[in-house]
Amino acid sequence: MDKQVTINGKRFEVSIPAATIAEAVHKVAQSVRQDYCDKNPIFVVVLNGAFFFASDIIREMDFPCQIEFCKLSSYVGTSTTGKITEELPVSNKVKGRHVIILEDIVDTGYTMKFLVDRLIEAQALSVEICSLSTKPSHCKVPDLRVKYVGMTLPDEFIVGYGLDYDQQGRNLRDIYSLIPN
Ligand code: IMP
Ligand code: MG
Repeated sequence: MDKQVTINGKRFEVSIPAATIAEAVHKVAQSVRQDYCDKNPIFVVVLNGAFFFASDIIREMDFPCQIEFCKLSSYVGTSTTGKITEELPVSNKVKGRHVIILEDIVDTGYTMKFLVDRLIEAQALSVEICSLSTKPSHCKVPDLRVKYVGMTLPDEFIVGYGLDYDQQGRNLRDIYSLIPN
């Protein structure tokens, strides 16, 4: 039987094992590395979900770069509220710098649209998105460009490798998908 966990009464089963995640992350890291090795970029990590992804990506960068954090939230339970809350605003240090956003998952795209607009307002020289995953069938911002994508996912709610359900499950090494009732 596949590995399963129960979180707050909902059942999840492994859909992406840790080794597959590591392979996808390594591949994305190599593309970012090639494109930014001479640009001294700033990585803007979107907390909380992207912290595992960010630490794995950034440790593959062998050139000068900086790290900043911001904290945005839009989800309650397993669905987005559409309204973005800026719990830790993005730093103004991005002015005149090449920025790479590190995100866990782009779902509707509203969170990324919000952050890209903020970074442009803060006068970043360039802004690109690097996301562990995307759920293209949910996208509501058609012109959003996610330049670096680790994995394209079906329409399933996932937890693990930093992603949560009601703040639980971030510690899991594999990614688990919600088992529909
Ligand atoms: P968006 O604004 O709809 O693109 O939502 C993006 C945010 O919602 C991500 O940064 C995640 O934190 C959260 N999110 C979206 N889908 C999932 C999921 O399947 N599991 C856990 N969190 C998710
Ligand atoms: Mg997130």
